[in-house]
Amino acid sequence: MEKSRVLIVGGTGYLGQRLVKASLVLGHETYILHRPVTGVDIQKVQMLLSFKEQGAHLVPGSFNDHQSLVNAVKLVDVVICAISGVHIRSHQILLQLKLVEAIREAGNVKRFLPSEFGTDPARMENAKEPGRITFDDKMVVRKAIEEAGIPFTYVSANCFAGYFLGGLCQPGVILPSKDRVVLYGDGNVKAIYVDEDDIAMYTIKTIDDPRTINKTLYIRPLKNILSQREVVETWEKLIGQELHKSSISEQEFLASMKGQTYAEQVGMTHYYHVCFEGCLTNFEIGDEGREATKLYPEIKYTTVEEYLKRYL
Ligand SMILES: NC(=O)c1ccc[n+]([C@@H]2O[C@H](COP(=O)([O-])OP(=O)(O)OC[C@H]3O[C@@H](n4cnc5c(N)ncnc54)[C@H](OP(=O)(O)O)[C@@H]3O)[C@@H](O)[C@H]2O)c1
Repeated sequence: MEKSRVLIVGGTGYLGQRLVKASLVLGHETYILHRPVTGVDIQKVQMLLSFKEQGAHLVPGSFNDHQSLVNAVKLVDVVICAISGVHIRSHQILLQLKLVEAIREAGNVKRFLPSEFGTDPARMENAKEPGRITFDDKMVVRKAIEEAGIPFTYVSANCFAGYFLGGLCQPGVILPSKDRVVLYGDGNVKAIYVDEDDIAMYTIKTIDDPRTINKTLYIRPLKNILSQREVVETWEKLIGQELHKSSISEQEFLASMKGQTYAEQVGMTHYYHVCFEGCLTNFEIGDEGREATKLYPEIKYTTVEEYLKRYL
């Protein structure tokens, strides 16, 4: 079967650049939509040039220029968007409505993967303020996709390892301490951690797979379904020493959000749902979904232990 031509929107981002690499590695003709570079963002330009050297096509375009989006979309079979959606960095999820409109108008796209890559927003209708905005906005985009009749795959990638493992599941921390850690309650709620490069590989694997058309692809590597306590124990084994452990209750955690910035509160709400409520593991995948490691067992995923080794 011919491999789909892919347009990656947000290809300069944290996840987006990994999607570009995976798409090239897996042999897809890869296009990157990039907005006009302003100022002297030398790193971004160098990254784009390096992708071009590796065979990607650079397509200039902008969300403010509808025709540029339509033209870009017409070049490919599949569109993957990885536009920003983390408030502490930037949150542009609703901009995708313009992309949906361009895909609808172009009429040639066989599949669209919107910028999701986290908790399944369809399961978060009772999420807390202010963090629910992430899920609500992603659902607005889903509704637009489905109303436009665009074939889709939603990727629920669970926890990006860099954020969650890097900080031993503590918000605002991205390097693991060798001294101390704060556990959520008893620290026994299970979450799922996925190496960002693996997320990109599973995502690209799925774009030509008829089993995931109009489905949600959940990434649940079995060895990476661990509680915070188990993550900490894995780290302790690697460094050969025990951390001092304290614990924060649900009420204390929620109260500690007061006085934080809005962006921090959004992030903390997400940690609350993952680490206290267990929102990633408290359901079975139904017929609306498929599980990535079962569909693509040939991908050797990075385990939590392997990921944490890089911090030694
Ligand atoms: N599950 C998790 O733990 C987790 C963690 C993080 C993110 N995520 C999800 O992953 C997805 C991608 O997030 P990310 O952190 O990888 O994103 P990011 O690095 O913050 O940004 C990604 C891209 O968004 C582009 N962008 C931002 N504003 C734009 C605009 N106005 N017009 C055009 N492009 C714009 C950036 O382009 P420029 O380079 O031109 O600025 C960049 O390429 C989001 O849906 C997010 O919610 C999940």
